[in-house]
Amino acid sequence: MTAREMLPGIFEVGAIDWDRRLFDELIPLPDGTSYNSYLIRGSEKTLLIDTVDPPFAGTLFGHLDGLGVRSIDYVVANHAEQDHSGTLGTLLARYPMARVVTNAKCRDMLKDLLLIPEERFLVIQDREKLSLGDRTVEFLITPWVHWPETMVTYLHGDGVLFSCDFFGSHYAASELFTEGNPAVYGAAKRYYAEIMMPFRSSVQENLRKIAPLDIRIIAPSHGPVYRNPEFILSGYRDWVSDRVENRVVIPWVSMHGSTAAMVRHLTDALVSRGIPVQPFNLTVSDTGELAKALVDAATLVVATPTTLFSPHPKAMYAVILVNLLRPKTRWVTVIGSYGWGGKTLQIVKENLPHLKAELLEPVMVKGYPKKEDLAALDRLADAIAGRHRTLGAPAGGGS
Ligand code: FEO
Repeated sequence: MTAREMLPGIFEVGAIDWDRRLFDELIPLPDGTSYNSYLIRGSEKTLLIDTVDPPFAGTLFGHLDGLGVRSIDYVVANHAEQDHSGTLGTLLARYPMARVVTNAKCRDMLKDLLLIPEERFLVIQDREKLSLGDRTVEFLITPWVHWPETMVTYLHGDGVLFSCDFFGSHYAASELFTEGNPAVYGAAKRYYAEIMMPFRSSVQENLRKIAPLDIRIIAPSHGPVYRNPEFILSGYRDWVSDRVENRVVIPWVSMHGSTAAMVRHLTDALVSRGIPVQPFNLTVSDTGELAKALVDAATLVVATPTTLFSPHPKAMYAVILVNLLRPKTRWVTVIGSYGWGGKTLQIVKENLPHLKAELLEPVMVKGYPKKEDLAALDRLADAIAGRHRTLGAPAGGGS
């Protein structure tokens, strides 16, 4: 694949990773991903924004060679994570005059992570501008979109926001641009859930910070470029808001069918009360889809059998994940079957300290659910329906 021209004199020169299926040894990537790198040619200076994951260094250098790039003056590091910075060392060796332009925090991290020497850096302050001759870029420090050192780069005149992880999606596509592809929207929402949701208030602040800019294109460093910025900006505004949907997410696991029977009964009871349900069988489910569902679901029900006196380990994995991702879930509870006792409920509660949700009455059942147990699940469905009525949301939920 060749470099892709975004605007006259501006090219996407990174790499598409069609086959990657796991990120950070944690995040499933059903649609692959890309490591976007952008070359901006000014009348006096040439600037590169972010690099690529190290295995794709050859792709980046091939694109630069193909464009006849003999020298690079500046390499902007919007983020120190290695999927964007990992090729900096080899790039600096290849372009000995290039300087790494970034903020002080990111510089320190790049020195620690990649052993980039101090003299190769040009450290900028928040809102500082850099002239390329007939083009000017401005740097805005935007912490916690994904790490504490993250920043974005705004190209004046053309109105392009180079946002790195912010607004990104793990979505491999040969098309450079997207304008309203629902698959990209879904991938971006999932990406938000996995990467940004734990820092929702920081994301809100950063959305406010970039709001005054005249943004005509958003060029993230993962996934397609947004030629219609409102497409993704409106999504982010919704995801970071306090709004939750009339919807229940049930991550569940069952060893011999008792907890599964409880999940089926509760699901039917909720649906009959006008509440959409997303059950995730944790033995087969994609945890990225679970994370995405948690972006705006009002209620979480963890359904687990008791195994060796504790929640099933697959349920604990989901609980730990939920706690790390800090969704805005308003109500939470636990249901499940046990054989002879244990501390399942206590352990789940203790492992959700970051969830600011009201705990609804759990339903823990000895053995297979009986008539009175199903009645308890009906009461739980009533309690959830009552809470959801306070949202004022119409039945049916959202995407
Ligand atoms: Fe795409 Fe946080 O790196």
